[in-house]
Amino acid sequence: MRGKNILIGVTGGIAAYKVVEVASRLKKSGANVKVMMTRNATEFVSPRTFQEITNNAVSVEMFGDAANFHVAHIGLAKFADLILIAPATANFLAKAAHGIADDLLTTTILAFDGKILVAPAMNTKMFENPATQENLKILRARGVKILEPASGELACGTSGKGRLPEPEEICAAVEKIFSAGRLSGKKILVTAGGTVEAIDPVRYIGNRSSGRMGFEIARAAVEAGAEVILISGKSELEPPNNLKFVKVEAAVEMRAAVLKEFDSVDAVIMSAAVADYRVKNPAAQKIKKSAETLTLELVKNPDILKELGGLKKSQVLVGFAAETQNILEYANKKLVEKNLDFIVANDVTAAGAGFGVPTNIASIIHRGGEVENFPKMSKVELAEKIISRVENLLAADKKFFPAENF
Ligand code: C5P
Repeated sequence: MRGKNILIGVTGGIAAYKVVEVASRLKKSGANVKVMMTRNATEFVSPRTFQEITNNAVSVEMFGDAANFHVAHIGLAKFADLILIAPATANFLAKAAHGIADDLLTTTILAFDGKILVAPAMNTKMFENPATQENLKILRARGVKILEPASGELACGTSGKGRLPEPEEICAAVEKIFSAGRLSGKKILVTAGGTVEAIDPVRYIGNRSSGRMGFEIARAAVEAGAEVILISGKSELEPPNNLKFVKVEAAVEMRAAVLKEFDSVDAVIMSAAVADYRVKNPAAQKIKKSAETLTLELVKNPDILKELGGLKKSQVLVGFAAETQNILEYANKKLVEKNLDFIVANDVTAAGAGFGVPTNIASIIHRGGEVENFPKMSKVELAEKIISRVENLLAADKKFFPAENF
């Protein structure tokens, strides 16, 4: 986000307080952030709060500064690479849909021809009202990106759709807009889910992987413009659209599917939870209950990622290290052993991290030794971070072979 100019428009909803954190996160990620507010928004959060967070003056009044009033909105529109409206009230959506420009914020929107992201937040009935839905449709048709409100408790005491999404989700949506197209022309292979190692035709050895992390990575890669192949073991999730989806069961099947694609891809992100062992001789028929104990002989599965590390030419290789102790040490060992570009390490026993939860607490360890420690974030947001690191590596690669040399 470094060097990106983001203009946040805050309209008069109770959720305005959450946008203070959005501004703070965007600023911390390296963006230049300016804020404009409607007069009603200042009833909920003081402009001074945003001013302190962003280190920039906050604009509210169209005619506040007599010397500059005729250029204020043009200046703001010129500054912005992206305008984020959060929270967006029903009143704002109606005005923006119909080109009404009766304050600084709506006038700036009208004078702006770049990317706009809108995060509506309001009472469920207001959101579902056909007038609001029609206005959203108009805005969508004009290319405005709409962030769907979340469901839950609303400030008005009711419960339903209309909550402003959490700051991390809003920031992920902003990053997504900037990263769109950065992977166009690239082919990315992602593995996800857990492998299924048969014991007999009915039972198997599996693991707790939900597939969510890998599916979100695949989605983020599609959104960044890549051609994506998602090879998945067991997962109950609906695969993302616009990619090639390959369903596999056992590790040996996953290996074959991955090797088939490996030569033609630019990067592999191996987030699947691959079983280290499989049953040596799976029974052809269902094993009947008889003896008090049953022994299964297990044999080692191929380490797919390690094999790719050996075969690798110019591909970017990313692995995961789900650990329960000595996380960084084990992850670093795998990074070297498997010849990876970076590894995403996490403690699967930590609350809000690992299998089956929508969040993760991860560190990225790069080949050069640099470590990035991330706070708890949604898997959607972590997927964005992973894809943006892959983008950087693929872009850096280009620098060594500038087109003019050929
Ligand atoms: O060595 P460990 O299983 O902890 O390494 C995890 C990383 O290696 C993950 O990226 C996982 O997808 C990959 N892996 C693999 N084949 C295996 C085991 C793990 O590709 N048999």
